[in-house]
Amino acid sequence: MSQMAMKISKLDNKKLLDLLNVAFAEEWLAYYQYWIGAHLAEGVLRHAVVKEFEEHAAEELEHAEKLAKRIAELGGTPLTNPNMFEKVAECKYEEPKNLHVSILLQQNLASERCAVARYQQICEMCEGNDYITFNMAREILAEEVEHEQEIDSYLTDIEVFREHFK
Ligand SMILES: [Fe+2]
Ligand SMILES: [Fe+2]
Repeated sequence: MSQMAMKISKLDNKKLLDLLNVAFAEEWLAYYQYWIGAHLAEGVLRHAVVKEFEEHAAEELEHAEKLAKRIAELGGTPLTNPNMFEKVAECKYEEPKNLHVSILLQQNLASERCAVARYQQICEMCEGNDYITFNMAREILAEEVEHEQEIDSYLTDIEVFREHFK
């Protein structure tokens, strides 16, 4: 734990740590959403989408790692029980029951949009108060926006494809 990191932060440490753990839980769920989707996806564009899912899964895991490191620096503990992920997360995991790529993409799009809102919230809380957490959240935010854009582009491609073969 960094004593100085805690001292220089102008925020309510408990409130910040709780929020970082919400994001931490959401990253694990997002990781799993992509990971399982990459294994189960069916349909046209499957190969391209699976590759994208694998890349995103790896990045969500990196986000979880960054959060865990920052939580520890601030004197907290990242959630130690995976049972807590679903309870704590506000960006929900959606069990893939229909395995068509377009459905999986829709589920991931919802989760990316929720993640964008989450990191915007963390940035707003930390701006001018905790530069290290702010910078971390800003970097992750940029990647979540990129994820959202990429998923959205695949959905558009599928729509164009469907129109073409109508
Ligand atoms: Fe993420
Ligand atoms: Fe993401």
